Amino acid sequence: MTEHAGYLARIARGWDEAVDGYEAYYVPRFAPWVAAAVKALPQALPEGPVLVPCCGTFPELDVLTEHLPGREIIGIDLSAGMAARARRRAAGNPLVHVIEGDASTLDPSLSAAAVVSVFGLQQLPEPDATILSWAGTLRPDGLLSVVYWPASTEPGGAFTVLSDVLRAHVSAGDRSWETRLVPTLEAQGATVERDEEPSFPMVHPDADTFFTAHTRTGPLRPLADSRGEAFIERLREEFLRRAPAREWRHRPPARHIVARRTSRA
Ligand SMILES: C[S@@+](CC[C@H](N)C(=O)[O-])C[C@H]1O[C@@H](n2cnc3c(N)ncnc32)[C@H](O)[C@@H]1O
Repeated sequence: MTEHAGYLARIARGWDEAVDGYEAYYVPRFAPWVAAAVKALPQALPEGPVLVPCCGTFPELDVLTEHLPGREIIGIDLSAGMAARARRRAAGNPLVHVIEGDASTLDPSLSAAAVVSVFGLQQLPEPDATILSWAGTLRPDGLLSVVYWPASTEPGGAFTVLSDVLRAHVSAGDRSWETRLVPTLEAQGATVERDEEPSFPMVHPDADTFFTAHTRTGPLRPLADSRGEAFIERLREEFLRRAPAREWRHRPPARHIVARRTSRA
């Protein structure tokens, strides 16, 4: 197995293990951003399917079928467990297909009307190359609507406190790609119609519940698998020391980019 294949397998396994908890904990909390990403698409789109890279359990699906009835919809996810849950959500709808695979690079021959992706981009190894590839699948006049988590800056928010605690143990990684997303799209002949930071309220019953969700059924599951129980418990103690000892309400800002494919580069 190559190093890259090993990396993908580790990420996929982490998300396989997270499916049920992710659906129960995060899907309801992330729903406002999912709705914003889908509703940014106009009804008037070119022919072709709507692609949903990193669809997870596919919460985008219900909003999409209501917003764009009659449209073919293709979800793509690396995790077999997530893809299986997505297929369950799509059962009985012949216009919906779910592909299990790496969405970092998509085949331009998919000739999509639109690409919608929520909270997948920031996890991929080269997000600026990926957004270019996603835009490259669009037909002329097709729309890209991508929501992702930027480096967390919400003072005192649950994601910020956790990432501060994590920084003492795991390096932050290069986030310079965030500044390249818009110029990269524009250089490919796309017009960026929106670049916003939508924030919605999020509530956690307490900090411990949030920490468990994030490390067992969220994006830190691969880290938890690789570093082991003792490391996670140490992290939990540090996190709880800094977190409020009550219900935790915050309002994390995501980033939402909407771009139109105006010409083929
Ligand atoms: C935070 S979840 C988001 C799921 C869904 N879009 C939502 O809004 O709830 C991220 C998803 O990205 C998937 N993922 C991670 N790396 C991927 C890759 N290289 N290709 C495709 N999917 C990937 C994970 O398996 C996971 O299901």
